[in-house]
Amino acid sequence: MTNDLAEKILVVTGGGAGFGEAFCATFAELGARIAILDVDMKAASRVAERVTASGGRSLVLECDVANEAQVEQAMGKVVDAFGGVDVLINNAALHLRKYNQPFHQLTRDEHRALLDVNVMGVINCTLSARAGFAARGGGAVINISSIGSYYCATPYGVSKLAVRGLTMAFAKDLAPERVRVNCIAPGLMATPAALADQGEIVFRDFVENRQLIKRRGEIDDVVNAAVFLASSRSGFMTGETLKVSGGYPLAI
Ligand SMILES: NC(=O)c1ccc[n+]([C@@H]2O[C@H](COP(=O)([O-])OP(=O)(O)OC[C@H]3O[C@@H](n4cnc5c(N)ncnc54)[C@H](O)[C@@H]3O)[C@@H](O)[C@H]2O)c1
Repeated sequence: MTNDLAEKILVVTGGGAGFGEAFCATFAELGARIAILDVDMKAASRVAERVTASGGRSLVLECDVANEAQVEQAMGKVVDAFGGVDVLINNAALHLRKYNQPFHQLTRDEHRALLDVNVMGVINCTLSARAGFAARGGGAVINISSIGSYYCATPYGVSKLAVRGLTMAFAKDLAPERVRVNCIAPGLMATPAALADQGEIVFRDFVENRQLIKRRGEIDDVVNAAVFLASSRSGFMTGETLKVSGGYPLAI
């Protein structure tokens, strides 16, 4: 099978850690040029060094996805450096236990911050990437939602339901511009942040009692789905969400 990701231009928000880091490393191995957008410059620079060490090319940009001006500027720099955008992965988010509490446990400011990053961040980045997609004649957006979006009992779940809604809305908006928009809803996956936040006992409970597939969800499970959604192998798909969750919650 051919690798049609070589020479593609990939923008990853939250590229400094977890899934974001793995998207950058894997797509670079496939020959893509990578723009790493993050608020954490130390983390993003470390990922850039990893990309360079494996022979890849990358650009590090300090960017808070909630900040429209910063996003607009960052996308402009990507176009200046690489000539456009082929794939945008909207990965940056506020997540973990803090945002999975009942609504009344969070302050209004915390709700606003959550929605600014998880929802407005997707809107900001997708709209600002349009010029980059146009320069390349189209492209693909991959949004990272969560299995939590199907059980919206928490502020985080609601924010990630909005991400699935945005996937459908932008699929329609951007179809005339030849941009496909799809989404991944991961289950509980062993990123360092999730492992530290949830602990081994929660992971074990998911494997033993909540998933059909009796092993831990790994970062590469999500990366593989992203490679598929970025490539022409998913060329007839838009507006879709792929669950990557080991069959959760069919087991319960
Ligand atoms: N790990 C899981 O189990 C899991 C499950 C479902 C969905 N997700 C989703 O996957 C994505 C990544 O998860 P992860 O575990 O790799 O996260 P992580 O916390 O390890 O990494 C997130 C990265 O985003 C960056 N970031 C945070 N806010 C930002 C902002 N405003 N602008 C730019 N960058 C910002 C952080 O600095 C960090 O580098 C998130 O959208 C999360 O909601 C994760």
